[in-house]
Amino acid sequence: MTSKKIIVANWKMNPLTGKEAVALFKKVKSLAGKNKNTVIVAPPMLYLEAIKRMGLGKVKLASQGGVIGDTGAQTGMVSLAMVKKVGASHAILGHSEMRARGTTDQEVAEQVKDCITKNVTPILCVGEKEREGDMWYLHAVKSQIELALTGMQKAKIANVIIAYEPIWAIGKNAKREATVKECEEMAIYIKKVLADMFGHKESKKVSILYGGSVDEKNAHVFLEQGGVDGLLVGRASLNSKQFSAIIN
Ligand code: 13P
Repeated sequence: MTSKKIIVANWKMNPLTGKEAVALFKKVKSLAGKNKNTVIVAPPMLYLEAIKRMGLGKVKLASQGGVIGDTGAQTGMVSLAMVKKVGASHAILGHSEMRARGTTDQEVAEQVKDCITKNVTPILCVGEKEREGDMWYLHAVKSQIELALTGMQKAKIANVIIAYEPIWAIGKNAKREATVKECEEMAIYIKKVLADMFGHKESKKVSILYGGSVDEKNAHVFLEQGGVDGLLVGRASLNSKQFSAIIN
């Protein structure tokens, strides 16, 4: 685990206007300028260009998804090549909210590969729907990782970030956030799955994030005791005061 943390703001489908997005980004940029952590913002794609034009400072930009290829007959879609052109260095892939709308493991695998060839860092989201007592959730996470990363060259795995986001912990209808113990257990397990696929040495280079009801009160506990290298923050990233407390 590195001392420099990765904090990703997933704005999801917020805010409503470009003006608000620019204002929020301005605050994040100023906070990140004074902070040693890596701050990555994933705004709606519509706002990427306006934000890039403001100058990113120390902040990095991520797209929320993106389809493979460059251009083509795909109504309503934006490609990973396009988001790269407007300044995204990262892409959130396989988020449970995208999977719920029909994104398949196969598509996620293709997106991960496309990102790697385009030099965009994939933030691969994995996480179980439910946490029953029979440990089936471990299998669910393992299979998402294997399906997304099989066939990837060993040397490229260090360019992937994995975000563990248990679905039951996400959003305003979340049951609760994960406990620190659950987070730590999963971080260890993900490292083991990666080690089995790519070897111990390479798997150690992969950063692991936790996401799901992260706020200014629990962030430091996850970072200090949760065995993760950073956080993927939803709701609390839309409030600059809360987000400031998290990145600090
Ligand atoms: P919340 O922080 O709002 O629970 O969302 C988590 C998430 O899905 C981030 O990608």
